[in-house]
Amino acid sequence: MKKALFLPVVSLALLLAAAGCRKAEPPAPVPEAVKGQPTMNIQKAPFGRLPDGANVDIYTLVNARGLKARIMTYGAILVSLDLPDRTGAFADCVLGYDSLDGYLKTTPYFGAIVGRYGNRIAKGSFSLEGKTYVLAVNDGKNHLHGGVKGFDKVIWTAEPFEEANGVGLKLGYLSKDGEEGYPGNLNVTVVYLLTNDDELRIDYEATTDKATPVNLTSHSYFNFTGGSRDVLTHEITLAADRYTPVDAGLIPTGKLDPVAGTPMDFTTPVAIGSRIDRVAGGYDHNYVLTSGGGAMALAARAVEPGSGRVMEVLTDQPGIQFYTGNFLDGTIAGKGGRAYGKHWGFCLETQHFPDSPNQPSFPTTILRPGDTYRTRTTFKFSVK
Ligand code: GLA
Repeated sequence: MKKALFLPVVSLALLLAAAGCRKAEPPAPVPEAVKGQPTMNIQKAPFGRLPDGANVDIYTLVNARGLKARIMTYGAILVSLDLPDRTGAFADCVLGYDSLDGYLKTTPYFGAIVGRYGNRIAKGSFSLEGKTYVLAVNDGKNHLHGGVKGFDKVIWTAEPFEEANGVGLKLGYLSKDGEEGYPGNLNVTVVYLLTNDDELRIDYEATTDKATPVNLTSHSYFNFTGGSRDVLTHEITLAADRYTPVDAGLIPTGKLDPVAGTPMDFTTPVAIGSRIDRVAGGYDHNYVLTSGGGAMALAARAVEPGSGRVMEVLTDQPGIQFYTGNFLDGTIAGKGGRAYGKHWGFCLETQHFPDSPNQPSFPTTILRPGDTYRTRTTFKFSVK
């Protein structure tokens, strides 16, 4: 890490100056960091403790262009993401809290890795290989985002690493057989990589010793104004001409409906707020990606016209949950004490379709022993 050289160089220069030797010495080369050029690096710091005393660490990843992502070991949560606007001014573009306490008290999955099953499983139950499994129920009658204590509320192991084009953090968690009602010991690895091409890539991997449903995703709430107001002026494009309509409990009916001619249509860029009042409650829907999944493809694009910040989402997953922070109601005081009102952030959760374990016509989410669950999602940032 170049950073390690920086302090000794500066201290040496100071020492020489103090000893009055400045004239005799040739000027020391200016380290990159002094010229205002960030140096790619990753650093670890303590971030607090859980009530049971377990330590939580936070890792700060900085790429060669100064983009900064902070990820903590509790929930594998992306705590902050500093991105430049079109003038080069940086702002944190994800919702969350300044300290661990907020995340421990109440969080609508801010920045978390969600699992073992992202989104809902109807009535917290499914059958697999002739056996019925009963899951923890935490959303009315349904199971949501892995249950009462999902992957967003556990401590992950963490190993930082550097590669030629980025810095990363490899997180691990062993979800025990029976946890939240799921069958099988599931060994999960999530790798965040912040590249010097301004991408935040997330690679998910899992293996099991019993057949089990698996559907992992990242639940970041983006706000490319830097969190200063709601997201209604953000323009969204989704590479999907169908979506999975839901019942009153947000469980898919099993149909795949066309978006054409409805307020669900984001096949061309549309401001989130332009038709949201025609969608009961706001957007909280799984879109069926035209790519069909399997290979990396562009799934979504978000543009914030004021700052010029742009995000593209690429994934190999078949679906994406577009959620517009409908349940935010101003009662959460987030970063800097700001009240997060309705639609203060939006999520683009790459995924398999909700309730797939109960929907035989949806692509399967069952992972079997001997197979490896492996998926990738890349968030690519730029300005226009
Ligand atoms: C997902 C769900 C929403 C909601 C949020 C968290 O996006 O689809 O219904 O549960 O997570 O509040």
